[in-house]
Amino acid sequence: MRINWKCVLFYWSTAHPLFLTLCPLLLSRCVIVINKMATSASACLSKAVKQEYMKLPQGDKVQAMYIWIDGTGEGLRCKTKTLDSEPKSIEDLPEWNFDGSSTYQSEGSNSDMYLIPSAMFRDPFRKDPNKLVLCEVLKYNRKPAETNLRITCNKVMEMVGDQHPWFGMEQEYTILGTDGHPFGWPSNGFPGPQGPYYCGVGADKAYGRDIVEAHYRACLYAGVNICGTNAEVMPAQWEFQVGPCEGIDMGDHLWVARFILHRVCEDFGVVASFDPKPIPGNWNGAGCHTNFSTKEMREDGGLKAIEDSIEKLSKRHNYHIRAYDPKGGLDNARRLTGHHETSNIHEFSAGVANRGASIRIPRNVGQEKKGYFEDRRPSANCDPYGVTEALIRTCLLNEEGDEPTDY
Ligand SMILES: Nc1ncnc2c1ncn2[C@@H]1O[C@H](COP(=O)(O)OP(=O)(O)O)[C@@H](O)[C@H]1O
Ligand SMILES: *[C@@H]1O[C@H](CO)[C@@H](O)[C@H](O)[C@H]1NC(C)=O
Repeated sequence: MRINWKCVLFYWSTAHPLFLTLCPLLLSRCVIVINKMATSASACLSKAVKQEYMKLPQGDKVQAMYIWIDGTGEGLRCKTKTLDSEPKSIEDLPEWNFDGSSTYQSEGSNSDMYLIPSAMFRDPFRKDPNKLVLCEVLKYNRKPAETNLRITCNKVMEMVGDQHPWFGMEQEYTILGTDGHPFGWPSNGFPGPQGPYYCGVGADKAYGRDIVEAHYRACLYAGVNICGTNAEVMPAQWEFQVGPCEGIDMGDHLWVARFILHRVCEDFGVVASFDPKPIPGNWNGAGCHTNFSTKEMREDGGLKAIEDSIEKLSKRHNYHIRAYDPKGGLDNARRLTGHHETSNIHEFSAGVANRGASIRIPRNVGQEKKGYFEDRRPSANCDPYGVTEALIRTCLLNEEGDEPTDY
């Protein structure tokens, strides 16, 4: 009979009294840590060990991570394919497909969906020459998927290209533990009331800055037009700003910035929520304020064009509310209460430097009589393609009524 000494050693070590006493101790410590931080299991895996593999040369091959919006209109999905050489532009990227029955995008039969590469960024996780590829989704019959709002957004942007529409969006979000509780909040209760946290510094005021810093740098590396970041009014709530971006770039850059945030949070074992009112009650909600201007508005005397646009917006409030969250206004109803620096969802209002209005004209824009205005209604989980498209349709294509025009 042959004795497998490795096995014997293994059995001995697991049966050894020292091991037996240490094992529950080690396990319980890990469980305690997980419970306390409410971070994910995969975040406990050694990132230093992973780094050893990420240093391996990859030859001539390039990894392209294809990203798309799923059937919820707010969830993101991704998968990776190997390319034989570095793509120089979007034309070098092949179409791909996926199973839409697993992404709330189609029923079982005819579940193949197409991924159409639309915008390419550097990959801050796998680094050069690897890519992030934002895709449009088409159904089996090559018609746009229900949540592919990019296709019509792009169409109206092209119609008004000569007016050079610029956008800037302020993305607010909340960092949550994997248990859904805001990161760093006491497990059975609330932190001190709002006041010290906005733009705060210090361990008792800024909850989760590591994520914000990692995300900011990763966006810069990727080529996302991120222009700033700050801590928000509610603890564990943060904001980043993207812009100014012209036309379709606004949606592309914001979606990729969101993807990068989810991916950074995954590494840290926490979750980024874009819910517009993550904590009910006396806590600020989360929006996605959108700055908008045209070439005319940015030139001397542009205030006239700004006021004209606001006049058109005032007549189309319901259409915009429907376009400003993925549930046709239901999500935003929890946030736009008229309190906590928001307007009331049922009323349209506009004013200079008024944070409680639907539309705010920044003070310096009122003084210089040119610049841009801010639509404060979009929800944090809005689709930026839907928001920017609605602004163009109403302000520049002079659409009226509750339905968009078919061009
Ligand atoms: N759609 C837009 N049109 C014009 N300018 C924009 C737009 N979006 C963002 N901006 C930029 O945002 C900047 C305003 O930021 P900032 O100076 O911080 O404003 P404030 O002083 O009012 O806080 C302007 O300088 C402008 O260049
Ligand atoms: C939007 O405008 C406000 C001023 O009204 C400014 O503070 C902010 O930086 C701008 N954000 C973006 C993303 O352009």
